[in-house]
Amino acid sequence: ASLSQDELKTLVGQAALKYVVAGSIVGVGTGSTVNKFIDELATIKDQIPGAVSSSVASTERLKALGIKVFDANEVDSLAVYIDGADEIDGKGHMVKGGGAALTREKIVAALAERFVCIADESKRVDVLGNFPLPVEVIPMAAAQIARRFEAMGGNAQIRMKDGGPLVTDNGQHILDVRNLKIADPLAFESDVNQWPGVVTVGVFAHQKAAVCLLGTAQGVQTLE
Ligand code: A5P
Repeated sequence: ASLSQDELKTLVGQAALKYVVAGSIVGVGTGSTVNKFIDELATIKDQIPGAVSSSVASTERLKALGIKVFDANEVDSLAVYIDGADEIDGKGHMVKGGGAALTREKIVAALAERFVCIADESKRVDVLGNFPLPVEVIPMAAAQIARRFEAMGGNAQIRMKDGGPLVTDNGQHILDVRNLKIADPLAFESDVNQWPGVVTVGVFAHQKAAVCLLGTAQGVQTLE
């Protein structure tokens, strides 16, 4: 029988354990795939001092399993950051932020020597942009940033939750931008980062994945 998407996530969550360096703090991302990894991490929690987390949700899950959570300002560097993605291309460039945690994810990723991406094969693409691109914005700049994306052929909409704009862990809003083809992720990320009011663009090219553990019907594929 072929494996379900949930089983693929469990497989890559388990496979990521061997990238954890004993005795050192691990960077932990956000999402349903990372949740599987956190459950695995709990089985070796005595071998690590703890974790730096990229979201309130992951912090709660880590703490509930008895894993200590450090503030990002308490660490100079991390050996590894383990996180999922909404899309990943053949070079390790990613789109992230489907879970609205992209800003903290990029901050923790920037602390790490190595980004290990864990994903099921539905995330693997040739060109980024099919998944609506999340961009965290300062609310008063949302409309002008949306117009800039529209000038590029995109369609930007404020992410909603419970009848109002979703508010991120950082108190800001998210634009989801459809109809983009991100042919040059590095240049795109640099460009959008310069727009006033952009907190974080969900393209991870400067902080790309060094390794991708991809869950496929044939098992876990390691792409480096
Ligand atoms: C969170 O903001 C995202 O970047 C996640 O990494 C992404 O949404 C992956 O989540 P799943 O593992 O649930 O697909």
